[in-house]
Amino acid sequence: LRKMAEAKIKSAHDLETLKELKIKFLGKKGELTSVLRGMGSLSPEERPVVGALANEIRNRLEELISSKEGELEEAKLEQKLKEETIDVTLPSVSFPMGAIHPLQAVIEELEDIFIGMGFEIAEGPEVETDKFNFEMLNFLKDHPARDMQDSFYITPEILLRTHTSSVQARTMLAKKGEVPVRIICPGKVYRRDSDDATHSHQFMQIEGLVVDRNISMSELKGVLFTFIKKIFGEDTEVRLRPSFFPFTEPSVEVDIYDPKKGWLEILGAGMVHPRVLEKSGYNPERYTGFAFGAGIERIAMLKYGIDDIRHFYNNDLRFLRQFQSE
Ligand code: PHE
Repeated sequence: LRKMAEAKIKSAHDLETLKELKIKFLGKKGELTSVLRGMGSLSPEERPVVGALANEIRNRLEELISSKEGELEEAKLEQKLKEETIDVTLPSVSFPMGAIHPLQAVIEELEDIFIGMGFEIAEGPEVETDKFNFEMLNFLKDHPARDMQDSFYITPEILLRTHTSSVQARTMLAKKGEVPVRIICPGKVYRRDSDDATHSHQFMQIEGLVVDRNISMSELKGVLFTFIKKIFGEDTEVRLRPSFFPFTEPSVEVDIYDPKKGWLEILGAGMVHPRVLEKSGYNPERYTGFAFGAGIERIAMLKYGIDDIRHFYNNDLRFLRQFQSE
């Protein structure tokens, strides 16, 4: 019995078989147990001899089984490890990577620059009311920009915003007369233009608005020059030209010098008109402010040398791939 059990245990190839053998020899109905049970029929002299022998065999078999168990478990683990090894020298599967859209890249760069100058980022709706797009910004009722020919109206009172300046009044009203107001707002705007290389019925602007005590034109100039030089380079030449907007007084347009194309307008700006402050709950005797609005496509076109605004919207991969970083 012992020899047979030993041989079988040694040749067991898996844990399952070993478990069966354990039951077969050592279990309650096992072979060794039945030997011990049968001891009653032995003579008193034989009993201790057989008993001692049976116990010895049991110990031996138990030992054998548990060491075999250890062996098999180790082998199983080893096998598993072998199957799961990763060959790190194999070439990896390459998958196509997207690129950040150039407009988004410019927006993120602008946001970083303005956050660095203490601005917060504001938002407003693209579907806007006449009130915020025009009325609060001191546009007269018969101002040409209000014309159906120039703007996308949904109803006589609701339109797609024609500029991000609509966020000015929204922000001031939300602040309830508190200062400082110091925000930028990048976003889409809509105008009724025929699309060509330099015009698009939908484009993007970034608005800036600062309201506080003692805000002067020189701070406006400082902020604008700082961001322009950060975007286009320290040596960029910048000039201000007098201009007109209903919501700023005085108003300016800002040009930068491009060696190939000459002076190019990139934004409109000015000191917030006292009437705009008043309409939005700020006393113009106490507070002053400045605002600016820049075209994001314009900035991106100059920065990256893009000659057609339509490239931004066509999603042509040959265009977009040029902005992949690696
Ligand atoms: N909203 C003006 C435009 O669309 C730009 C602007 C913004 C001018 C803020 C002055 C102040 O052209």
